Amino acid sequence: MSSVAPVQYENIRVEKKNQIAYVTIARPKVLNALSIATVDELRQAFHDLKNDSEVRVAIITGEGDKAFVAGADIQEFLAINPVAGKEYSRRGQAVFELIENLGKPVIAAINGFALGGGCELAMACAIRLATPNAKFGQPEVKLGIIPGFNGTQRLPRIVGRGLAMHMLLTGDPISAEEAYRIGLVNEIVAPGELMARAEAIAKKIIANAPLAVRFAMEAVNKGLEVSTEEGAFIEATLFGVVCATEDKVERTRATLEKRPAQFKGK
Ligand code: COA
Repeated sequence: MSSVAPVQYENIRVEKKNQIAYVTIARPKVLNALSIATVDELRQAFHDLKNDSEVRVAIITGEGDKAFVAGADIQEFLAINPVAGKEYSRRGQAVFELIENLGKPVIAAINGFALGGGCELAMACAIRLATPNAKFGQPEVKLGIIPGFNGTQRLPRIVGRGLAMHMLLTGDPISAEEAYRIGLVNEIVAPGELMARAEAIAKKIIANAPLAVRFAMEAVNKGLEVSTEEGAFIEATLFGVVCATEDKVERTRATLEKRPAQFKGK
């Protein structure tokens, strides 16, 4: 079997260990701002992770102790024209949609500023953990633009229309504590424990049946886009699919035989 050399990126790092992929945005000098090249590298990395059967969960974070991602790279879009602006937005939206619907959960380990595209990136993840110094916000209106990576869509779905409007229209950042209070982050974790906590959650997910995890995510993500009735139909259909998996039979056998289940993702 030929081994494939890991892809080398300029703006991100991807490491894999124990079925977890670690994706780090590595531009600390500009607080991990998302340049166009960085967004393209994220697309390549997550495309590969989607197809990597060895990887069950991904954890995404920012390099250093100051920023997760401080937004899109302001230097780049100062000179952007309307056509390029639309293209940039669509490219970013597609990458974040890939992250949201990866078929395996992505955990955001938010280690500092999560502004603009950083907040949008975090919102595309299935689970969000933050350190107490993290700050969340959509400051685009202060720059004469609006969020372009689905922030206007995901934020109201997560925190509700009123609070989303407040953040989107004032552009003011909120603290990690406030983000926790409004449900924008799941947990606040001490800086030294952030990755360990993300890994502990990842391990719990990895112990579960891969297809069940995938379809539970799919039911939530697809269900939120349609009426409750249609969402219930999607759920029932996916429930039917998991009923036919080898893992469901294995789980039943393991319970009867009083042994741990050996899931195969089939
Ligand atoms: N794009 C490009 N560069 C950025 C950036 C971004 N979104 N955010 C920060 N940087 C750069 C700064 O220009 C600075 O570079 P320099 O050292 O060459 O001057 C470096 O990162 C450090 O940032 P600095 O502003 O000095 O840090 P700070 O602690 O004083 O402030 C922030 C931190 C996050 C409050 C501030 O950097 C900021 O407001 N950034 C822009 C956030 C934003 O509007 N994002 C949304 C874009 S749509």
